[in-house]
Formats: sequence, C-alpha cells, structure tokens
Amino acid sequence: MSDSTITPWVVGNWKMNPMQVNAKQLINEFKELLNKNEISQAQCHLAVAPISIALHLVKDELKQANRTVHVVAQDVSRMAGTGAYTGEVSAALLKDSAIEHVLIGHSERREFFGDQPHIIREKVKHALAEGLTVIYCVGESLEQRENGQADQVVLQQICDIASCVTAEQWHQIVIAYEPIWAIGTGKTASPEDAQSMHAKIREGLKQLTTLGSTMPILYGGSVKPENAVELAACPDINGALVGGASLNAASFYQIAQAFAHTK
Ligand code: PGA
Repeated sequence: MSDSTITPWVVGNWKMNPMQVNAKQLINEFKELLNKNEISQAQCHLAVAPISIALHLVKDELKQANRTVHVVAQDVSRMAGTGAYTGEVSAALLKDSAIEHVLIGHSERREFFGDQPHIIREKVKHALAEGLTVIYCVGESLEQRENGQADQVVLQQICDIASCVTAEQWHQIVIAYEPIWAIGTGKTASPEDAQSMHAKIREGLKQLTTLGSTMPILYGGSVKPENAVELAACPDINGALVGGASLNAASFYQIAQAFAHTK
C-alpha cells in the first residue's frame, strides 16, 4: 500500500496539440476555474505538458495563477549539456529555461521514435543529474496483457532505469502506469486492474529503493471526469496522467478535483 501522505499529481499531456491560440485559451480557462474554486497545493500537484515551443507561453500565462501549476517538457534529449546535436533539447537547456519537469518513456515515444531502454536510461540519467523531476511512463501492450506478460513487462520497464538512479535521486521520480491499449482508446483499465498493477509496481519500487512506499504512481489511459473518482479511490493510484481530457479545461479541472478531494 502507498503511504497515505503522498500528495496526488494530476498532469495534462497535451501531446502534439493544440495551436498557439488554443493553448493560450485552454490554460486561461483552467486558470479561471482554479481562481473561482481553488485546489490547494497540499491537496494536489498540478502540471501540464505542452509542445516544446509553447512551454514558455504556457509558463508565462500561469504566472498569474493562484497556485503553482508545473510546466512539463514532453521529452528530453539523450545528449547532455550543449553541442552539435541539431533538433535536440537537453536536460541542461530545459533547466536553464526554468523547466523543472519532464516526461520520459511515453509509449508513443517508445513506439514511434525509437526510445529503447538504453536511450531512455540516458535521458533519465541526464534529467536527474540536472535536478529535474522525471515522470517516467511504463505500460504493456494489449498483446502482452493477453499473453499474461503485463506484470513482467511493466516491472522490467521499472528495472530498466534502476541502474542510472542513485539512492537520493528516487525522490525526483514519479511513475506513470499507462497500459498502451487504454491510451486514447476510450478504454480505461478497471479500477481493480489498475490498482492491482499499481500495487505490484509499488512492491517493485520498494525492492529498489527505501523511498518506494512514498513515490507517486499515476495512472494514465483514457482518464476522464466520469472515471476519475473511482480511480482516485484506489489506494495505490496517486494521480493521473491525462491526455485527451486535458485538452478541455473543464474536464481537466474536474479530474484534478476528483483526485484532490478523494485522496
Ligand atoms: P489519453 O492519453 O488520456 O488520451 O488516453 C494518456 C497519455 O497518453 O498520457
């Protein structure tokens, strides 16, 4: 079981969306909802992950919010520092731009952009060395689940990064369990299945680090206002990584409220 003192996280993953004018509108609508009916910092960490060229636009818009909403990069280079790596943005450059959080290992990066475990390890290593918080995504495919391999696949993905995380760095890691078959499909894992996997991830983390019982483990995959409360009620689900529903300010706000009030 997770430590009941874990503050939940609700993170919006905007993926390759939206146009600038809509990004501005989306974040301002969300800010207004927070201003009208506050969700306190102690109740829930909030974060959004826009496209890289909108990170600062969103960060600037959030300056007048009545609480912290972290701005998260959707990925980071495997290369460190600065140098001749066209098209890349390193962890050092994110840090230099005051971006303190990054998603690594999202299944879309693993599937379409060749993020193999050895590449993910380099990304995690450099991000942690720069002091960034890493939201590390894991999850099995439908085929792996149907073949009974889900636990093994997910625990292996957790173990994949263990060699590049020092004892003190585990507190910089948030895990996001996202079954691939539930991402963008409208199919959510049942709260029982999600809780069962989260409990296994929790046990796996405890084997790797003394911080295992206090690390947040988020669920992702078709989270929406309609299922957020029952997911939030599961003891080892400490928040949500929200794709589609985070592109609607009211839906994202309702999901945040569900976690803030249920946990
Ligand atoms: P979804 O995406 O909520 O649209 O399923 C979740 C994610 O990929 O992070």
